[in-house]
Amino acid sequence: MKLWAGRFQKETDTLVNDFNSSIPFDARLYLEDITGSIAHAEMLGRQGIITPEESAEITAGLRAILADIEADRVEFSIDNEDIHMNIETMLTERIGATGKRLHTGRSRNDQVAVDFRLYVKKQLPEIIRMVLDLEAVLVKKAEGNLTTVMPGYTHLQRAQPTTFAHHLMAYANMFRRDITRLEDCLTRMDECPLGAGALATSTYPVDRFQTAQALGFRQPTENSMDAVSDRDYALEFLSACSIMMMHLSRFSEEIILWCSWEFQFVELDDAYSTGSSIMPQKKNPDVAELVRGKTGRVYGALITLLTVMKGLPLAYNKDMQEDKEPVFDTIDTVRQCIPVFTAMVDTLTVKPKNMARAASSGFINATDCADYLVKKGLPFRDAYMIVGRLVNMCIKTGESLDTLPLKDFRAVSGLFDADVYQALELKTCVNGRKVYGGPSRDAVEEQIASIRRFIAERPS
Ligand code: ARG
Repeated sequence: MKLWAGRFQKETDTLVNDFNSSIPFDARLYLEDITGSIAHAEMLGRQGIITPEESAEITAGLRAILADIEADRVEFSIDNEDIHMNIETMLTERIGATGKRLHTGRSRNDQVAVDFRLYVKKQLPEIIRMVLDLEAVLVKKAEGNLTTVMPGYTHLQRAQPTTFAHHLMAYANMFRRDITRLEDCLTRMDECPLGAGALATSTYPVDRFQTAQALGFRQPTENSMDAVSDRDYALEFLSACSIMMMHLSRFSEEIILWCSWEFQFVELDDAYSTGSSIMPQKKNPDVAELVRGKTGRVYGALITLLTVMKGLPLAYNKDMQEDKEPVFDTIDTVRQCIPVFTAMVDTLTVKPKNMARAASSGFINATDCADYLVKKGLPFRDAYMIVGRLVNMCIKTGESLDTLPLKDFRAVSGLFDADVYQALELKTCVNGRKVYGGPSRDAVEEQIASIRRFIAERPS
């Protein structure tokens, strides 16, 4: 019999029963549900809403159910709709009438709200830890590649020389922002909805500060209607994860390019690549491609929940049951993606010679050539025009700026001297960019130190 059978004269249709039930996916909230119920029951006892004996009986019953679930001795029933009613029904079956007192001063609306928050709140530090591990790998790799010159691109055309370390630290900065976004989300969601009841609290002397504290929240939510209607924390979590996956996906895309025969800037470790069923020569970057692909499901989760929420009147609506699967799927996805991605980056081999070769053609030092003339007094626009002419000349003769005879330089401008060759060396070009944030060794070392401080400031 349903907990709510009193008002009804017919059994629920089986189609409705299956359609309405969330137990197949919300069973994973069992721990949060029991923890929330224990905090509620203890508060009821302390406030004299139920007797201390009843409170003790209920909490003991809940703990026994928890032990049985963890020992895999419990089967949930679709007839009991969701995790909340499954556990409550089980409690009353086990301890009798006292179990029926647990739901005093509470509704499934605040119950599901607190369970879901507790679940997301517990996941956040674990996910943040994973991103911090990725940061640690990035700074380690960057440290080993401070002088590994590579082309920097715009429009995927060789643009200006940089180093692999500078490129990696760009990602380290993105992931640092991702971590702070997840931390912000954690801070904002740290309010307890329990005691909000269906929407308007209750007439019992429920102490919401007690339960908030017992459950590790900073404070209770301020408005009970908001408490049961709000899923912002889940949306913030999904949007922070979407942005993070976008970063992982861009990085994946670059790794896929870099390990192609056309680039050969890096080689993935055998343990982090896969073969082809037909082409014996293939070594595929499946891990990077899957991370790029799975980004789609995380975006999908965000759009799903935004769309579910957009038209809902206050307070609770059953539509909100649709919040769980996208969030759970996102949690599973990011928890799978980050560690495997981190290990793939950690184990990849950098090919400095190939990077340098790519950097030494394509007129990547043309800006430096113009800057050389500027340092000799020419306005930048004039210098730019002269170097443009030189590049055009070189393309016709198959020459590069580094190998162009001095007389050809001097033919376009008398300001060129023999020191131009040194000015055009890639190492000079990179290390000349000493500006804060730039690719010179000193500047990148500062960036590394900053990320290292950020990691060290966080609990390990
Ligand atoms: N299974 C429901 C959910 O996930 C629990 C809350 C149900 N509340 C209600 N009034 N029907 O949203």
